[in-house]
Amino acid sequence: MIQSNHTTCLSSVLLFFLLLHVSATSASVYDDFVQCLNTHPNSSAAKIVIPQNNPSFTSTLRAYIRNARFNTSTTPKPVLILTPTTESHVQASVLCAVQLKLQLKIRSGGHDYEGISYVSSEPTFVILDLFNLRSIDVNAEDATAWAQAGATLGELYYRISEKSKTLGFAAGICPTVGVGGHISGGGYGNLLRKYGLAVDNVLDALIVDVNGKLLDRKAMGEDLFWAIRGGGGGSFGVIISYKLKLVPVPETLTVFRVMSYTEGNATDVVLRWQEVAPTTVDDLWMRMLLQPVTSPTKKGEKTVRISILAEYLGNANQLVSILGKEFPELGLKKEDCLEMSWIESVLWWNDGSTPNVTKPEVLLDRNLDQASFGKRKSDYVQTPISREGLESLWKKMIEGKTGLLFNPYGGKMAQISASDAPFPHRAGNLFKIQYSVNWDVAGEEATNEYLNQSRVLYSFMTPFVSKNPRSAFLNYRDLDIGVNNFGKNSFEQGKVYGLMYFNDNFDRLVKVKTAVDPGNFFRNEQSIPPLPT
Ligand SMILES: Cc1cc2nc3c(=O)[nH]c(=O)nc-3n(C[C@H](O)[C@H](O)[C@H](O)COP(=O)(O)OP(=O)(O)OC[C@H]3O[C@@H](n4cnc5c(N)ncnc54)[C@H](O)[C@@H]3O)c2cc1C
Ligand SMILES: *[C@@H]1O[C@H](CO)[C@@H](O)[C@H](O)[C@H]1NC(C)=O
Ligand SMILES: *[C@@H]1O[C@H](CO)[C@@H](O)[C@H](O)[C@H]1NC(C)=O
Ligand SMILES: *[C@@H]1O[C@H](CO)[C@@H](O)[C@H](O)[C@H]1NC(C)=O
Ligand SMILES: *[C@@H]1O[C@H](CO)[C@@H](O)[C@H](O)[C@H]1NC(C)=O
Ligand SMILES: *[C@@H]1O[C@H](CO)[C@@H](O)[C@H](O)[C@H]1NC(C)=O
Repeated sequence: MIQSNHTTCLSSVLLFFLLLHVSATSASVYDDFVQCLNTHPNSSAAKIVIPQNNPSFTSTLRAYIRNARFNTSTTPKPVLILTPTTESHVQASVLCAVQLKLQLKIRSGGHDYEGISYVSSEPTFVILDLFNLRSIDVNAEDATAWAQAGATLGELYYRISEKSKTLGFAAGICPTVGVGGHISGGGYGNLLRKYGLAVDNVLDALIVDVNGKLLDRKAMGEDLFWAIRGGGGGSFGVIISYKLKLVPVPETLTVFRVMSYTEGNATDVVLRWQEVAPTTVDDLWMRMLLQPVTSPTKKGEKTVRISILAEYLGNANQLVSILGKEFPELGLKKEDCLEMSWIESVLWWNDGSTPNVTKPEVLLDRNLDQASFGKRKSDYVQTPISREGLESLWKKMIEGKTGLLFNPYGGKMAQISASDAPFPHRAGNLFKIQYSVNWDVAGEEATNEYLNQSRVLYSFMTPFVSKNPRSAFLNYRDLDIGVNNFGKNSFEQGKVYGLMYFNDNFDRLVKVKTAVDPGNFFRNEQSIPPLPT
C-alpha cells in the first residue's frame, strides 16, 4: 500500500522514535478519553476503552485483522480501542473523539483489503471496534431484517435460513465479512444479476453523526441515506445498522464448478463466456476464475486454469438445457451440477462443502485472528477482450501468481440507474475484474514482489478495461489508485480515487459530505473530501 512507502522511506531509528512517541502519549490520551466518556451518562467508560498497555489490547486488535500485511511490529497501532456494546457508547465515543481531536477508525468485520479500518497514515488514531454490535432481527412475514454493523454476513444468512427456506439476501460470498463495511461499500454476491447489490435492497439505516446524534432514514434525510448505500463507510458517520429487504430464493437451486486449461480449448470458453455470462437469464450468475498454475499435462510448464463457478435459481435440468444452447463450449453435464437449498449454497460457495457434509452453524464461526498476506485491485470491462488479447494475457499471467476473477454484470444491474446509489458501475459494464494474489511468507521482499506483480498485470490490462476514468470497486480497496493526506490538495487528491470509485456520483457525495461533516472528522485514506472552504 502507498502508506508502506512512507514506512520504507523512514530509517529504523526514526521509526523507533515514532513508536516511542506513540506509547508516551497513549497514557494521557487514555485518561482524557475516559474522563470525557464519564461526562456522558450511559457510557460505562472503563469497560469499553482498551489502552495499549491493557493485556487484551493485542488480542482485540488482531481479532479482526484480515490481511497479515497489516499484522507486523511496524504496522501503526491505535492509541486506544473502543469496544462499544450499546448505541449510546457509540454516540459518546464520537463526541469524545471530536472533542479530543482524535482520528476515529471504524471497524466492523475488518475485511478492508488495505486494512484502513484499523491502520492509519495519521500518527495518532483510535479504533471504534463494533464487533459487539452484532444483533440480527429477521422478520420473515414482511421479508425484512435489521442487521447491526458488527454482524457478519454468515450470521445474517444463518439467521435468515432459521426463519425461512425461501428467503435470502443479496450480498457477499465470504461469511466472515462484516455488515458495516460491506454494505456501506456497495457489497455484491451471487444474486447480483437477479437482485442487484446489497445497497439495492436497503430500506432504512441507523447512523451516529458527527454531533453524536442517532439518526434513522427519516431523520438523516434522503441525501445522507443515499450516500451510505455504497458511498463508503467512514466518510459520513458510524453506521449502527441497516434494515434489509430480503429476497425470494427457490427451495432448490443449482450450482456447478467446471474447469479447463489454456492448453485445451479454454480460450474458446472465455470468449463465449464474455458473451453469455452478462446476457443470459437473470437467474444465472457464472463467475470465472483465471489462475496461473503448473500444467497438469506438460511437465515443468505453466498454464492458466479457467474455472467457472455458477449459481442458478432453478433446477439442474433447466440449467443444462439453457447452457447446452447458449454455451456449448462449456460442455456442461447434469453430473457437474449440484442441487441444494440456498443456505447450503452459501456453504458451497464458502469452501466447496456439499449438502449434509458441513453444518450451517459453521457460518457463525468468526475465525478470529486468522489471515494470509494479500493484495487486490479491480477493473471494469465494457467491450469483450479479443482472442489475441486473451492469448497475450495467458502469456503475461504465467509470469506471476496473480489470478483474475471475472464477475459478470447485466440482468438487474443494467436496469438500475447509475445514480440510484453511489455505486455507479451499471449498464454498459460486461464484467468486473478482481486481481487477486495471496502469499504466506512474511517480510518486505515477498510483499514488494507480490505488490509489484499485481501492479504489472494491472498495467498490462490497460487497453482492455474502462477508461476516463478507469473505474474501480470501492469494496476492493486499493490504495495504489490514490490516497488523501488531507493537506492543501485534499480535494484534488480525493477526486482521483473518488472519480474511479464513483464516476459521476462523486459530486453528489461531496455535497453530502460537505453538508453533514464539513470539518472532515470522519476521514480515512480514501474518504470523500468536503468542498474546500
Ligand atoms: C475474504 C474476503 C471476501 C470478500 N468477498 C466479498 C464479496 O463477495 N463481495 C463484496 O462486495 N466484497 C467482498 N469483500 C470485500 C468486503 O466487502 C469489503 O472489504 C468490506 O468493506 C468489508 O467490510 P468489513 O466490515 O468486514 O470491513 P472493515 O475493514 O471493518 O471496514 C471496511 C471500511 O468500512 C468502514 N466501516 C466499517 N464499518 C463501518 C461502520 N459501521 N460505519 C462506518 N464505516 C464503517 C471502515 O472504516 C473501512 O473504511 C471481501 C473481502 C474479503 C477479505
Ligand atoms: C441511558 O440508559 C437508559 C437505560 O438503558 C435509557 O433509558 C436512557 O435513554 C439512556 N440515556 C442516554 C442519554 O442515552
Ligand atoms: C472443449 O469443448 C468441448 C465442447 O465443445 C467440451 O466437451 C470439452 O470438454 C472441452 N475440452 C476442454 C479440454 O475443456
Ligand atoms: C441430506 O439429508 C436429508 C435428510 O437428512 C436428505 O433428505 C437429503 O437427500 C440429503 N441430501 C443429500 C444431497 O445427500
Ligand atoms: C499476527 O501475528 C501473530 C504473530 O506475530 C500471529 O500469532 C497471529 O496469528 C497473526 N494474526 C493475523 C490475523 O495475521
Ligand atoms: C515492478 O518491478 C520492476 C523491477 O523492479 C520495475 O522495473 C517496475 O517498474 C515495477 N512495476 C510496477 C508497476 O511497479
